[in-house]
Amino acid sequence: MPDKPGSRTSAFDRRAFLAGAAGSALVPMTARAAAQEASAPAARDPSLPVEVTLRVNGKDNRLSIDARTTVLDALREHLKLTGSKKGCDHGQCGACTVLIDDRRVVSCLTLALAAEGQEITTIEGLATDDRLHPMQQAFIDNDAFQCGYCTPGQIMSAVACVKEGHANSEAEIREYMSGNICRCAAYPNIVAAVKQAAPEIVKG
Ligand code: FES
Ligand code: FES
Repeated sequence: MPDKPGSRTSAFDRRAFLAGAAGSALVPMTARAAAQEASAPAARDPSLPVEVTLRVNGKDNRLSIDARTTVLDALREHLKLTGSKKGCDHGQCGACTVLIDDRRVVSCLTLALAAEGQEITTIEGLATDDRLHPMQQAFIDNDAFQCGYCTPGQIMSAVACVKEGHANSEAEIREYMSGNICRCAAYPNIVAAVKQAAPEIVKG
């Protein structure tokens, strides 16, 4: 005999049905979540080495490095090019300045991975076989350094400053070289060096 609506058996069946329906709705959601979790890429340990090719001073260098390595550390620690200096390691002193695709950058804040495929030029790559770069010669001619620690960064920045067209007056040179700090305060001589080298660099 069929149960009457509202009878005990009927109420139980309704609860059982609702529980079953809720359960069957949950199963696909749970299964979906599990499938998503399984297909999500596992978080990669950033300290594991990655392969990168850095082109430095016209030469390709294949390196296996921590993904967090900066251009400065790649140059100094892996390639043993110690001309670029680590002053602050915070992008504030300019001692680490190099050129990447002819643009000056603070290499302590630039990831090596981000520089792959670009041309990195360091102080070691400026001179030709038998001749200093005009900016290097001008720094010597004008005694534009004392301790010399800031000098590689100053020279790289000065080359870019001239090529950018920002060496037309002493004031302009000071302004566009202001990211390069000299603790020995050789600024007047640095400005004189940039003025001396500028015409030759512009001439090419
Ligand atoms: S070491 Fe890079 S800006 Fe100071
Ligand atoms: S020459 Fe010494 S910091 Fe510039």
